[in-house]
Amino acid sequence: MKRDIISVMDMAGDLEDIIDLSIKLKRQRYEQFPQFTNHVLGMIFEKPSTRTRVSLETAMTQLGGHAIYLNPNDMQIGRGETVADTARVLSGFVDVISYRAFKHENVLELAKNATVPVINALDDLEHPVQIVADFMTVKEKKGRVNNLKVSYVGDGNNVANSLILGTVLLGSDIAVGCPKGHEPNKDILEIAEQIAKDTGSNIEILSDPVKAVESADVIYTDVWVSMGEEKDKEQKERLFRNYQVNSELVAHASKDYLFLHCLPAHRGLEVTGDVMESLHSVVFDEAENRLHTAKGILSTVLY
Ligand code: CP
Ligand code: NVA
Repeated sequence: MKRDIISVMDMAGDLEDIIDLSIKLKRQRYEQFPQFTNHVLGMIFEKPSTRTRVSLETAMTQLGGHAIYLNPNDMQIGRGETVADTARVLSGFVDVISYRAFKHENVLELAKNATVPVINALDDLEHPVQIVADFMTVKEKKGRVNNLKVSYVGDGNNVANSLILGTVLLGSDIAVGCPKGHEPNKDILEIAEQIAKDTGSNIEILSDPVKAVESADVIYTDVWVSMGEEKDKEQKERLFRNYQVNSELVAHASKDYLFLHCLPAHRGLEVTGDVMESLHSVVFDEAENRLHTAKGILSTVLY
């Protein structure tokens, strides 16, 4: 049976194994693997991308395979060919497909109809591949991914949803500080509560950002305005003003906290420049780890 990664939950049984494999592959950066020879990744991007696109393409190339960037505007899907037919056609050409989509349902539809593995490269509900790199970075810096307090401050968006699932699966606690009405997805929270019963993790959804970061080992934020939400920009920037990760807020964290951001960042909005550039900030290691985790994920779904 093929292995899709649509949600962090698709890594529920082996998330830490994928992290460990990625750490190993980081040491073997330019090593090619014979099983990747002539293997092709098709990458559909409905939205812009720097990290996800370049990490997946570089990963596939370094492993010994090849990747093709597919812009829907240049494909028949942009002229009405269905996602299902596209999935069936691409399955005859490529060995694995990644898909960055506006709608989660379209990623599910592609996966349902493709006979090759499908990797969610971000949609409106989740960003699962990001979370593997985030916790790889935490493991490298802290030596573990369990028994930590992870705090997410900002919009309860796709990254927040995946972070919550990853945190509780790995046995850490998560506290989210977000304005009312911008909480993470309800269904995701229900799944996370179920997992937390087994892993002993604590989940807090708070409107007070100070409470959320109290004694935090990791502080994470993301943009206030996600791709596709540009029309809400002014209103959201006003509403989220008190949720900026700045020196005043991080003073409430544990003294050796790590600052993470999936990037791209907007200095002066969700995070200040001094926090981004502080010794606590590991955002560029986190970004580089997108490459190593792309290899870990590709190896896991293909072999
Ligand atoms: N973090 C992330 O997914 O970045 P890109 O949008 O540049 O891929
Ligand atoms: N929440 C952001 C993440 C970008 C990597 C967005 O969806 O635009």
